[in-house]
Amino acid sequence: MNRNFAMEFVRVTEAAALESARLMGRGDEKAADQAAVEAMRKMLNSIEFDGTVVIGEGERDEAPMLYIGEKVGQGKGPRLDLALDPLEGTTICARGGNNSLSVIAIAEEGKFLHAPDTYMQKIAVGPSAKGAIDLSATPTQNLRRIAQAKNCDVQDLTVVILDRPRHADLIAEVRAAGARIWMIGDGDVSAAISTCKPDSGVDVLMGTGGAPEGVIAAAALRCMGGDFQGKLVFRNDDEKARATKMGVVDHGKIYRIDELASGNVLFCATGVTQGTFLNGVRFFKGGAHTHSVVMRSQSGTIRYIEAEHHFDRKPRY
Ligand code: FBP
Repeated sequence: MNRNFAMEFVRVTEAAALESARLMGRGDEKAADQAAVEAMRKMLNSIEFDGTVVIGEGERDEAPMLYIGEKVGQGKGPRLDLALDPLEGTTICARGGNNSLSVIAIAEEGKFLHAPDTYMQKIAVGPSAKGAIDLSATPTQNLRRIAQAKNCDVQDLTVVILDRPRHADLIAEVRAAGARIWMIGDGDVSAAISTCKPDSGVDVLMGTGGAPEGVIAAAALRCMGGDFQGKLVFRNDDEKARATKMGVVDHGKIYRIDELASGNVLFCATGVTQGTFLNGVRFFKGGAHTHSVVMRSQSGTIRYIEAEHHFDRKPRY
């Protein structure tokens, strides 16, 4: 994949972040999401490539917005698959909380797991615990292995878990094992990425969240040298049938990071609201600052981009 695409695609997440950030704290999740989607689609369609959304905002019939299977780009140039979330953390943005992002991951055709909009059980760690995780083991066993890899005690580990009733048993077990817990309301992509940032104070993400977010997080962690495993969790037979249609043969399979996102992956994210690893959009008269990250799995280069946008000199998205 042409590495110059990095700048093209970071403009896409910048545009989506700028538009959704305008609606921060308005209490309107739908409007914030829609603003991000429209900006993202417009910018994607200005790039010379032949793109297909494989991880998007739901399936065609359900979602009028950047749905799985939607074609994007100018239709000429390299054929690429996209895993995207124009606004990851819609509730966060609507409330003005921390860690909502606009994200997009790009790979050559066929390199992302094609998953329906269901749930995924996840475990994510940074480079220092790569190879230590195993979703078929218990949370306690995983915490011991992660602590050993990081040369610390389980008590020194901080685990991020989505604050959901379904995680009651997981939370009880992690507490019994002695690790610290950071419960978050939303935004497990940002939490997964945080495991790769030593200064975030986050060691591991555990629990069940969105499957699309799982594939996106795996793409980011491939670039950052972290580790991730995921297992699809279906809510009903319809979701199972949709997964089968998308090519998922073994419904109980534990996917390794390189089975979720393989090949050369490019990952871009822009902070919408203030976050652990990216600043949120800050507006000033006639413009705004954005903070983005662009990473490539092939080189492992991680670039942070601070941009100053002047709305009088470029079109609104
Ligand atoms: P949205 O941006 O679609 O609102 O997703 C936010 C999120 O918190 C994800 O980060 C997470 O994977 C998922 O929702 C969890 O789903 P649920 O809210 O149904 O538990």
